[in-house]
Amino acid sequence: MSSSTPELKQSQDKERLIKVSERRFERVVGVSFLLSFLATVGLGVVYWQGGQTQVEGALLFIALGGLGFGIVSWGKYLVPQGPYVQEREELQSPESEREAFVESLERGANQIQRRSFLVKMLGAAVGAFGIITLFPFIRSLGPQPKKMLYVTNWKKGSALVKADGTKVRATDLEVGGVLTVFPDGHPGGAISQTILIRPSFQDIVTKPGRETWGPQGYLAYSKVCTHAGCPVGLYQELTQQLLCPCHQSLFDVMTGANPVFGPAPRPLPQLPLYIDSQGYLRAQAGYDEPIGPGFWERGA
Ligand code: FES
Repeated sequence: MSSSTPELKQSQDKERLIKVSERRFERVVGVSFLLSFLATVGLGVVYWQGGQTQVEGALLFIALGGLGFGIVSWGKYLVPQGPYVQEREELQSPESEREAFVESLERGANQIQRRSFLVKMLGAAVGAFGIITLFPFIRSLGPQPKKMLYVTNWKKGSALVKADGTKVRATDLEVGGVLTVFPDGHPGGAISQTILIRPSFQDIVTKPGRETWGPQGYLAYSKVCTHAGCPVGLYQELTQQLLCPCHQSLFDVMTGANPVFGPAPRPLPQLPLYIDSQGYLRAQAGYDEPIGPGFWERGA
């Protein structure tokens, strides 16, 4: 089968050079995918053990970089580039061409085996990365909210306290005054934050059934907007309305914080108040409905 013509020798040398070069690039691509796979596994381990931002960043760089480098190198050096032009010649191929063809077929068979290994390496690297990207969804969502979103820390007899924990007296606010308050023992709590307003010195009835909820002109409403949960903190004394700064919902404080403008779909829940024998403001009970955005109603 062998021939010693200069053309054949030249062709064989060329084939050999191509073969050596391809093997080298196959190794490079394989190592890139392997590095990517190992870095991805390492990333998962570091993340699962509590995370370390710098290490995670470096591993993510290696994982994505290895994958990208491997794919680009594969496309650039291992996929035939063309263009291919076949001249029309006599039908019978010369001996040298037939031998080169057989050699090329044999080389192709080996290539296919090696390339299937690279495909597996690529699959492992991409698969591992796909699994690792699920980790934040599984782990970073935190504990289930359970009842926390349905109830606040307000309960029967809770004293109203300021952010610094001091109790609020019935003499603390003048007419037009406004104060953010919390249940005693939970100052600063986001879910329980409540806005205390004093539109009058007289008892206020905002709705039938709430005859005792507004002693000496004090009204308390959840500060968590029923639209998207922003803190409703602006009181307009002239119109006796509360304004949510996020999307400009307006709530009428004298009629149970009914929304009169904007996207808020329902009133702010009202906290029933009383004044104890020592002059401190307290809650008659907790809120009788969930506070915040309308998610509560959709869950029912
Ligand atoms: S969050 Fe209050 S109006 Fe949108």
